[in-house]
Amino acid sequence: MTVSFSGKKHSSYEQIFSVFTETSWEKTRDKYPQTTDNFFSGNKNQFFVLPHLNSTEFLIGVGDQFANHEIQAVANKFSYFFRNNILSAPTLLSAPVFDKYQTEEFVKGLFLGTYMYPFRKNHPVWKKGFSLVEENADPSTVRQIKTSVSALCRGQFDAMDWLNKPANLKKNGQLSEHLKQISKKYGFSYKSYNREKCEKLGLGAFAAVNQGSATDAAFTIMEYHCKDPKAKTIGLIGKCVLFDTGGISLKNPANMHYMKSDMGGAAAVFGTMIAAAEMQLPVNITAILPVTDNAISEKAYLPSDVVTAYNGKTIEVLDTDAEGRMTLADALAYLTKNYKTEALIDIATLTGSAVRMFGDSCGALFSNNNSLLEMLLQSGQKTAQRLWNLPLWDEWNDEIQSDVADFRNISMKPVGDCIVAAKFLEHFTGGHPAWAHLDVAAMAFGKVNYSSEKAATGYGVQLFLDVLQNFAEKN
Ligand code: BES
Ligand code: MG
Ligand code: ZN
Repeated sequence: MTVSFSGKKHSSYEQIFSVFTETSWEKTRDKYPQTTDNFFSGNKNQFFVLPHLNSTEFLIGVGDQFANHEIQAVANKFSYFFRNNILSAPTLLSAPVFDKYQTEEFVKGLFLGTYMYPFRKNHPVWKKGFSLVEENADPSTVRQIKTSVSALCRGQFDAMDWLNKPANLKKNGQLSEHLKQISKKYGFSYKSYNREKCEKLGLGAFAAVNQGSATDAAFTIMEYHCKDPKAKTIGLIGKCVLFDTGGISLKNPANMHYMKSDMGGAAAVFGTMIAAAEMQLPVNITAILPVTDNAISEKAYLPSDVVTAYNGKTIEVLDTDAEGRMTLADALAYLTKNYKTEALIDIATLTGSAVRMFGDSCGALFSNNNSLLEMLLQSGQKTAQRLWNLPLWDEWNDEIQSDVADFRNISMKPVGDCIVAAKFLEHFTGGHPAWAHLDVAAMAFGKVNYSSEKAATGYGVQLFLDVLQNFAEKN
């Protein structure tokens, strides 16, 4: 398949990205007298630049053995390496070794690979816009690739930009303004409750986390409605702690700056909503983002406090740093009480425990529903945003028994905190028959090509889009 996509300015100078496997290269190499064995063989992640008279050709190797998601990774790496060279000229992708899906994966990688920090003036390709124009490929395929790649980039880049922002540039007011703007642009319904309103509504667990903050809370509810009357509604909840100091149970300063990433779950959710709306996915989304920071002040909630969550259950706060589960408890209880959803998925940078267990190899997945569990595992595998299932066995309830409340918010034992947290959350899901919880701290924020420090990976957007597509197909 041959697809060409072009920048704003068309010039006669062309950039050609030619993709080879080892086998296809072996058959073609005679056409490239400039190359020898030493330079290029079609191996995975091999890039070779060939200057021609009116064009530059980039030979790109994907190897003979590749999973589909590896195609995106190769393209991402390629475009990151050459991001300063491939930006403005029209480019032509020649990838006869790929089918349609694989071509789309490659194009996704090409564009996602141009991501830079939001304070750099790029994303150069992106800001200029691009268009896919038909070459030899059938026009509807090209159009479809263009739509979905552009949708993905808009959603994932927005998620990454906000996750990467420093804490002083993503106060509640700034993020809320952004959420309002995207709601307006995409026609999402938007409402948000401040601290006072949350207290009145009985969102006591969430309000407790916010009470020590100099900035007001925003318990935010956003809905995307598609045009299909038969469409399913999926509930998405994203942990949205804008900065997690730990509160009175203060964190160690050494890694505290990473806690600007504690809204990675929420970023994945609103990034997904943007992409879903751009693609006009035939599925509805009801999202809750409980926006707050976890601050330290004389008003902050204290270890030993007992607070009442939205579902009437009382929680003994033994560690104010276990704030994510407090905010999610109310979000889960509120969503299940007030909305009907086919499936309910929360995503959170919830525990260091999941980080210590899996590193950045996968997120921890918990679910009470086997088909949702299978679907998430498969989507994780397919998109290389992997998940691994952990148990919700009832014996873990012993760990959150409290003498003074229905539950305590931590176990006080250095064992399996990500399971303890998941078990805690389960008590606030209102008996929803298809709930899944994703604990993804190291996945959302970690090693990336565009930064020497940990930064936003974009985790969750492609995963959720795949899941939503599965639900859309069930209409
Ligand atoms: N936001 C953190 C979880 C986290 C840890 C994210 C490391 C990214 C990297 C969460 O709010 C937290 O502080 N969890 C505590 C819970 C503990 C007090 C039971 C933790 O994991 O240490
Ligand atoms: Mg914390
Ligand atoms: Zn946190």
